[in-house]
Amino acid sequence: MKHTDLCDIFSSTENYVDKDITVCGWVRTVRDSKAVGFIALNDGTSLNNLQIVIDKEGFEKADEALHLSVGSSISVSGKLVKSLNDQQPVELHPTELTVLGTCPSDYPMQKKRHTLEFLRTIPHLRGRTNTFNAMFRIRSELAKAIHDFFQGRNFTYVHTPIITGSDCEGAGEIFRVTTHEFNTPYNTEEEYYANDFFKKKAGLTVSGQLEGEALALAMGKIYTFGPTFRAEKSNTPRHAAEFWQIEPEVSFADLNDIISLATDMIKYITKAVLDACPEEIDFFEKFFEKGLKDKLNNIVNSDFAVLEYTEAIEILKKADVEFQYPVSWGLDLQTEHERYLTDKVFGRPVFVINYPKEIKSFYMKLNPDGKTVAATDLLVPGVGEIIGASQREDNYDLLLDQIKSRGMTLEDYEWYLDLRKYGSAPHSGFGLGFERMLMYITGVGNIRDTAAFPRTTGSLV
Ligand code: 4AD
Ligand code: MG
Repeated sequence: MKHTDLCDIFSSTENYVDKDITVCGWVRTVRDSKAVGFIALNDGTSLNNLQIVIDKEGFEKADEALHLSVGSSISVSGKLVKSLNDQQPVELHPTELTVLGTCPSDYPMQKKRHTLEFLRTIPHLRGRTNTFNAMFRIRSELAKAIHDFFQGRNFTYVHTPIITGSDCEGAGEIFRVTTHEFNTPYNTEEEYYANDFFKKKAGLTVSGQLEGEALALAMGKIYTFGPTFRAEKSNTPRHAAEFWQIEPEVSFADLNDIISLATDMIKYITKAVLDACPEEIDFFEKFFEKGLKDKLNNIVNSDFAVLEYTEAIEILKKADVEFQYPVSWGLDLQTEHERYLTDKVFGRPVFVINYPKEIKSFYMKLNPDGKTVAATDLLVPGVGEIIGASQREDNYDLLLDQIKSRGMTLEDYEWYLDLRKYGSAPHSGFGLGFERMLMYITGVGNIRDTAAFPRTTGSLV
């Protein structure tokens, strides 16, 4: 169907004024007054509605048009003219109108404003609200900006497997992949897996990092951008069972190099969204976070803090706050601690560096102190951790020690150890949680409102 997108009409109005055009979309509101009536039409390509002005005397389908129900889909042709009303730049004076799809009165999107909680129960329809229209457009622009950033810096985009046999983070949050039926006749675990599809235990990847390392030690610089999965039982506003991760991996790079890369990337993608989506950002500023635009401009223009884990613990110990989890060196920082550091102490993004090795993953490079690893988390106000990063252990023996002492199955990691045997090189990488970044950029407080069809424990709508 030949028609013009509303976003083009609003972004280059001069090309369409006084011309005959056809638009298609869904009826947002219908308003009737004395000689004329109005339909607000939205086609999803813009937050703005196009006003269709119905001349009750002059337009033969006026009666049908003014009886359209909210949510109906229509095609309208006519002349686009400059509007006399300063609420909108242009309006359409129709000469033809075709109803494409009617919409009965049980349509749940009749009301002007629904709660986010209600909208989560109808993910197939909530994209028709301004909130989700704005969110999904920002999500799309953010993805584009991430690819632009890495591709402009000699990184190769690689696709790592979704089904894997290894647990990168070792946190036991793997969704199992199996073709076994409910009632299987096997007596032992060994027998059970030996008879399964892959003839071994398989699961959905929690991270593309391990395979990403193999490719970085071949291509120099790579990044992944794909779905990752965690059987995360904690029912919080920041955890999803399925989320997208961006994982660059860089050969010949140490922790400082990867901190610089992460900083440059966050600034670049934030600026890209500010430039590409000014109306959407205004929308989130108005309805979700006061001061959002200033916050985003500050991300682009000011430095991020860097804080030793040991210093973070000292700050938290001195804090005039009763934490639920008591603070001592060795503590795995909880949301309450992260929030105190970002929201109360720094008020800007903070890289916490050099964590105790016991609370971090097996692959992280041991520091010369023998107690800490060259790892960092990027914590940001309002959200908490958005990036986990580290220099990788590139010493064969030290890595082998970690695999053994953590009771991991050596067989599953032999190929990974090979990378330290054949031309091992210092290398580092990070993982950015895409939905967490969206929470930060939009000010939306729940990860369930950043993905089209969110997956969380107990919920698969
Ligand atoms: O800190 P994580 O667990 O790090 C890794 O997976 C490393 N392998 C990354 C790497 O070095 N290549 O996860 C990385 C990020 C977190 O900082 C967070 O933003 C996001 O992924 N994340 C989640 N986002 C939503 N829901 C969850 N359940 C998440 N778990 C982690
Ligand atoms: Mg982490």
